[in-house]
Amino acid sequence: MRLIIEADSDKASDWVAKYIKTRIKSFKPGPDPDNPGKTRYFVLGLPTGSTPLGCYKRLIEFHKKGELSFRFVKTFNMDEYVGLPRDHPESYHTYMWTNFFRHIDINPENVHMLDGMAKDKDAECEAYEKKIKDAGGVDLFLGGIGPDGHIAFNEPGSSLVSRTRVKTLAKDTIIANARFFDNKIKDVPTEALTVGVGTVMDAKEVVVMITGAHKAYALHKAIEDGVSHMWTVSAFQQHRRATFVCDEDATLELRVKTVKYFKGLMELHNKLLEEPKVD
Ligand code: GLP
Repeated sequence: MRLIIEADSDKASDWVAKYIKTRIKSFKPGPDPDNPGKTRYFVLGLPTGSTPLGCYKRLIEFHKKGELSFRFVKTFNMDEYVGLPRDHPESYHTYMWTNFFRHIDINPENVHMLDGMAKDKDAECEAYEKKIKDAGGVDLFLGGIGPDGHIAFNEPGSSLVSRTRVKTLAKDTIIANARFFDNKIKDVPTEALTVGVGTVMDAKEVVVMITGAHKAYALHKAIEDGVSHMWTVSAFQQHRRATFVCDEDATLELRVKTVKYFKGLMELHNKLLEEPKVD
């Protein structure tokens, strides 16, 4: 497990966006030289929320400057509210198209999002797992967390081997998300379709962004305490390639020893941002 500590949320967003750029470029997505007629896609898992907005902005900038293409990228979003039509201003569909997809060269056919209006929700979730598998699995799953340490909508108490399914939202999550619904708690959906912790664990690599003092206790639980289904993000302690990226504010509940150790590794970790040399 790695922990990247940046001064503030802007710098944390920069780090994550550069890292994603490097990973996509190193993968060299596109026509497969070893298998004529086949295409290699980089598969990216994506979250919503306010935390990843800065990262999406940087990725759009890289694209506009001609430094990064999403032509051979497939995406799978983490979750979607149940009962909100796609074009609802607060649906995660609207969020993703407004804040990211509309501004890049991704083929809409390569964008995958759960349908919160699906008649048969269990079938929708099962089909989503199959689509991820058929795409060859997720290469990099980016995530954020709620202040109670939930990843996607895997609320406290979720099974750490859970798969994509319907989840009833915790009261804390409904209250936290009411800000997007004019602070009207009754307007916040009470259910969501979400990838499971196990679904994210299956990704080849996981990057979790945690910023702000209000998430400091969750970061402590995520990396310094044991693995617990009451803090579902802590599951990634057992992932073979997990990177937590935080800002200084989010480190407030960490031990000085932990912070010093990971800060001492920053020079090494920044080497991960070096892009592959062009042949
Ligand atoms: C929701 C989403 C999560 C997200 C969380 C935190 O609960 N389902 O995927 O990580 O909100 O959002 P924010 O980044 O706005 O704090």
